[in-house]
Amino acid sequence: MGKFIVFEGIDGAGKSTQAKLLGKWLEERGYEVVLTKEPTDTAFGKLIRKLVLTGGREGIIDGARISHEAEALLFAADRAEHVHKLIKPALEGGKVVISDRYFYSSLAYQWARGLDLDWLIDLNRFAIKPDLVILLDLPVKESMKRIGSRSIKTEFDKIVELQKKVRENYLKLAERFPEMKIVNALASVEDIHNDIVALVEHELFKR
Ligand SMILES: Nc1ncnc2c1ncn2[C@@H]1O[C@H](COP(=O)(O)OP(=O)(O)OP(=O)(O)O)[C@@H](O)[C@H]1O
Ligand SMILES: [Mg+2]
Repeated sequence: MGKFIVFEGIDGAGKSTQAKLLGKWLEERGYEVVLTKEPTDTAFGKLIRKLVLTGGREGIIDGARISHEAEALLFAADRAEHVHKLIKPALEGGKVVISDRYFYSSLAYQWARGLDLDWLIDLNRFAIKPDLVILLDLPVKESMKRIGSRSIKTEFDKIVELQKKVRENYLKLAERFPEMKIVNALASVEDIHNDIVALVEHELFKR
């Protein structure tokens, strides 16, 4: 069996940046790496982008285009395809799978929408447990600076409010799921990468 590493954190925390760097680091050490993400590029992922993520500002902030439950089910359907078609076969082939977001995103965001956490956990029970989940944690103010925002003041405040709730949820989830390790994402790209490498060596390769 290979190893399964997941990156989590609020929007703009540095997940994609650090996932790529870790992938490169592992490849240079001879590991076969599969870099992947959620939502996926499959038909389900495209449906999510169409119905949820590009559903206008209301879609992102309030999930107004479709019901919160339908949104959670769509993400879970996309994940089921991801697990069965990509993650499981890659792990069975001895590869290191790195996923940019996984079911912890569903828990943190959909819980922030007001859905029941235990229902969300049950819904995602099929999802293979990662060996390590790296939670990139930083204040919302900093993440918003990194990604910038063109939206008007009222929308900006709403987005900040949601992101703050999501950040709190992630930190609560880290208490519940022992595979989640918090990494301070306020440092430089290089310093964060070094912290992640140390964590991966310690947790996964027991050096
Ligand atoms: N440590 C850092 N310090 C400053 N800027 C950073 C740092 N890490 C990443 N960035 C920059 O912040 C922006 C967001 O980073 P990135 O895309 O990796 O975040 P993300 O968590 O994948 O975001 P999203 O959730 O939107 O996909 C990018 O422009 C990136 O270059
Ligand atoms: Mg990203």
